[in-house]
Amino acid sequence: MRKITVLLSILVLALGILTAGCGGGDKGDKKAAAPAPAAKEELIVGTEPSFAPFEFPEKDSKEFTGFDMDLIRALAKEMGYKKCTIKNMGFDALIPAINAGNLDVSIAGFSITEERKKQVIFSQPYYKSGLAFVVRKDVNDVKKFEDLQGKTIAVQLGTTGALYGEKLKEKGAVVKTFNTSDLACMELKNKGADAVISDLPVLQYFLKNGGSDYAKLAGEPLTAEDYGIVISKKKPELAKEVDKALDALKKNGTYDKLYEKWFGSKPAK
Ligand code: ARG
Repeated sequence: MRKITVLLSILVLALGILTAGCGGGDKGDKKAAAPAPAAKEELIVGTEPSFAPFEFPEKDSKEFTGFDMDLIRALAKEMGYKKCTIKNMGFDALIPAINAGNLDVSIAGFSITEERKKQVIFSQPYYKSGLAFVVRKDVNDVKKFEDLQGKTIAVQLGTTGALYGEKLKEKGAVVKTFNTSDLACMELKNKGADAVISDLPVLQYFLKNGGSDYAKLAGEPLTAEDYGIVISKKKPELAKEVDKALDALKKNGTYDKLYEKWFGSKPAK
């Protein structure tokens, strides 16, 4: 009887070692083997998916797709997580959810700003962006930002675009704030707004995918902004891990591959 028990435990141990070595074997029975320190279960990611080509619903699927989505899935894998779960929230709810510990990270085309840096940690920059604006096709008297005085402008709640829009309020502009970026663009289509202030790559994608029927870019880009991944100040170790994984993806070509997939060119060095 004892012999059998000894034999059995050797077998169980061997099995445990075997499954641990497989790196990511899903339902391996790990009762016998101590959990490997590198095996992390789940990375919980928050986003606001009305921001193509960074995060948006995949056609005929419940999943989200886009550059940010591909990047965070690749990062989670690189960091050793078995699962990457993406949660959909209001943009202005993401930083509070990070700080409440309900999310591990947030990736949502977040511009790195001094104001936000007071509340959270940002990863190293992963995309160069900036604000711009589109106007309705029939609006012909707006050639530069100042021409938006007295116009109606649609923006997304909690964004840098919304902050920028505020600058025009004193100058007699009406600023309409929407929960999603799509709704802000819809307002333009419905003639409820003359302009939308948002991130240039998002506006370019919108124009290319039907928006140019009723909207056009006007003026010069307004700002230069870098996107970063958001992490809680209580998790500096996780922030370091994210940066390390980003370095690795930049080095092994994954980052460039994803960038080309979504933007059609290599990132500027
Ligand atoms: N880059 C802008 C910001 O940080 C807009 C981001 C909006 N992102 C989104 N997923 N809707 O405020």
